[in-house]
Amino acid sequence: MSYIQVDNLTKEYGTGDAAVVAVGGMSFHIQMGEFVAVMGESGSGKSTLLSMMGALNTPTSGLYSVDGLEVYQLGQDQRADFRREFLGFVFQSFHLVPYLTVLENVMLPLVTIKTNGRTKRSLAEDALSRVGLAGKAHRLPSQLSGGEQERVAIARAIVNEPPILLADEPSGNLDTKTTREVMDLFRSLNQEGMTIVMVTHSPECAGYAQRLLRISDGLLVEDVPLNGNPKTKPSDSHSASLEAFCSHRDHRDSGSSKTKMSSENDLI
Ligand SMILES: Nc1ncnc2c1ncn2[C@@H]1O[C@H](COP(=O)(O)OP(=O)(O)O)[C@@H](O)[C@H]1O
Ligand SMILES: [Mg+2]
Repeated sequence: MSYIQVDNLTKEYGTGDAAVVAVGGMSFHIQMGEFVAVMGESGSGKSTLLSMMGALNTPTSGLYSVDGLEVYQLGQDQRADFRREFLGFVFQSFHLVPYLTVLENVMLPLVTIKTNGRTKRSLAEDALSRVGLAGKAHRLPSQLSGGEQERVAIARAIVNEPPILLADEPSGNLDTKTTREVMDLFRSLNQEGMTIVMVTHSPECAGYAQRLLRISDGLLVEDVPLNGNPKTKPSDSHSASLEAFCSHRDHRDSGSSKTKMSSENDLI
């Protein structure tokens, strides 16, 4: 049995004439420890897929299971437990709380965990050291660069040491150097065993993954292995496929009104 199973998953927003099929029946399985990149044009359903995999957005139909747990069969409380135990989520925009310090932002996922404050603080400090921000724990997010804010978001996603990291365009707003730093961090998390599913528009970022899922109009149109070696250029066939794909892609979709999650999502 595969670790993550997506079977015939669909998501339709709205009803009647206004209905939009964001994900139209997608199936794939992911093994524990895989690093998977998801690419597709703006509006193709990437964020919807990721939010369903994040247990944040109830599918219209289909099955989603992790480690044998059928996620959407769980009650609300159990699903919250599942999210806390299994998932770290790095959103398209960082969603840092502006009036909390970096350390307090990273401690947020630990709020509902029954551990004393000192332990929580030390877990958050560990996560911040892992992303190279140990010295900036007491700053406010506005006192950090974009790349540093991204790393705070990653620290917050990994503070509870989840086995799975879901990231929606983690490099969307970053310069090349910072993007590489963030990708190196993802790679080391993956090498330590974390399963990663990352939506990206960047072929270079996708080159860090071992597998590419390409989606178009809510359907999976390509599922190919990548060499997963960022130090060298992807092999010709991969880069050809990625280049061809990228020449078709739309502009990066962060900030587009199309991608704003509305109240139709469960939590975001
Ligand atoms: N909450 C929502 N309500 C209605 N339509 C939505 C909602 N979220 C996304 N959509 C629509 O679903 C389709 C897929 O969107 P999305 O999953 O955000 O794609 P991507 O992340 O690939 O850009 C788009 O047509 C988008 O407009
Ligand atoms: Mg999106």
